[in-house]
Amino acid sequence: MNTREMFAKAIKGGYAIPAFNFNNMEQLQAIIKAAAETKSPVILQVSKGARNYANQTLLRYMAQGAVEYAKELGWEHPQICLHLDHGDSFELCKSCVDFGFSSVMIDASSLPYEENIALTKKVVDYAHQYDVTVEAELGVLAGVEDEVSAAVSHYTKPEEVVDFATRTGCDSLAISIGTSHGAYKFTPEQCTRDPKTGRLVPPPLAFDVLDAIMEQLPGFPIVLHGSSSVPQEYVDMINQYGGKLPDAVGIPEEQLRKAAKSAVCKINIDSDSRLAFTAAVRKVFAEKPGEFDPRKYCGPARDLMTELYKHKIINVLGSDGKAE
Ligand code: G3H
Ligand code: 13P
Ligand code: ZN
Repeated sequence: MNTREMFAKAIKGGYAIPAFNFNNMEQLQAIIKAAAETKSPVILQVSKGARNYANQTLLRYMAQGAVEYAKELGWEHPQICLHLDHGDSFELCKSCVDFGFSSVMIDASSLPYEENIALTKKVVDYAHQYDVTVEAELGVLAGVEDEVSAAVSHYTKPEEVVDFATRTGCDSLAISIGTSHGAYKFTPEQCTRDPKTGRLVPPPLAFDVLDAIMEQLPGFPIVLHGSSSVPQEYVDMINQYGGKLPDAVGIPEEQLRKAAKSAVCKINIDSDSRLAFTAAVRKVFAEKPGEFDPRKYCGPARDLMTELYKHKIINVLGSDGKAE
C-alpha cells in the first residue's frame, strides 16, 4: 500500500510509521517478524545502494514475498509499503513506480531551491498517475545521503515549506532539524560528555524548527531521516569483539518518541540494524572461531535485529497495534 492512509492515521494517533531499510533476506525477515508480532504498519525502504547491492528485481519480489510471509505469521491484513529511499533522479523514481513500488522519495535537497521544486514536481506528476506517494526533502542533513554528502547540515527553512509543498504537490516532506545519517551523527566537539559513563551526550534536535514547520503546514506529514539512536550496547559489543567504533553516537530515543507524537509520521532507521547485525556476527566469530555455516551467524544477527525492530516499534515509534 502507499503511505497516504498510514500517515493520516499516524498524525491523528500521535505515533510514527517505522521506515526500515533492507538489503538482504535476514533484515527483511526480521522487519516482517517484528511488524507482524506487534501488528505495526511498516515501510520497507530500498536505497540506491541496496539496488546496486542486491538487485532491484530481487528486492521487489522479496517485498512481495514478505507480504505472504506476514500472513503466514498470522498477520491477517498486513500494512506494508515498498518505498524508494533517496531517489536522486526522475529516471530512478520512474523505474521504481513502473516496477510496482508503492512510494518513492525524490531527494533533490542538494539542488538549488527552484531546481528541487522542478524535479520533485516532475516525479509527483508521474507517480500520482499510478497512485504512488512521493516524499520530498527540503533542508540538508549532515553526513552522507547515498552519493550526496554534506559536511554541515542546513535546517529546513519554515518560511519555504508552504511554497514548496504547494508547488510540488508532494505527499510528505523530509526535514532537517539536526538528525544525520550513519553511526557518527555528532562530533565529540558538538557533544558534552556524561562524567559518570564517559559517553557522549548529543545536542538536542531543533524542536523549535519542527514546531515552526508544523505551524506553517498543519497536519502535513513530516519525515525524519537519520534517526538511528546508535544503541551503545551494540557499539560496546562490536568494540568488545574486535570492532572499532569509537565515539559512535546517535539520536536519543526520548527525542524520537517526542517527535513521533507530532506531525512526524515516518522515522527512518537503518544504521541501528547494521549495528545489531554486525554485533551479533562479531560475537559468534569471536566465541566460535570454527563456525563457517552462515546460518549460524546470520541467524543470531536476525534474532537481534528482530528484537531491535520490536523495541523501536513499541517503545520509540508507538506504532504497535495500529495495523490489526
Ligand atoms: O539514507 C541512507 C540509508 O541509510 C541507506 O544507506 O545508501 O548505504 O544503502 P545506503
Ligand atoms: P540512519 O543512518 O540514522 O539509520 O538513517 C537512515 C535513513 O535516513 C535512511 O534514509
Ligand atoms: Zn535518509
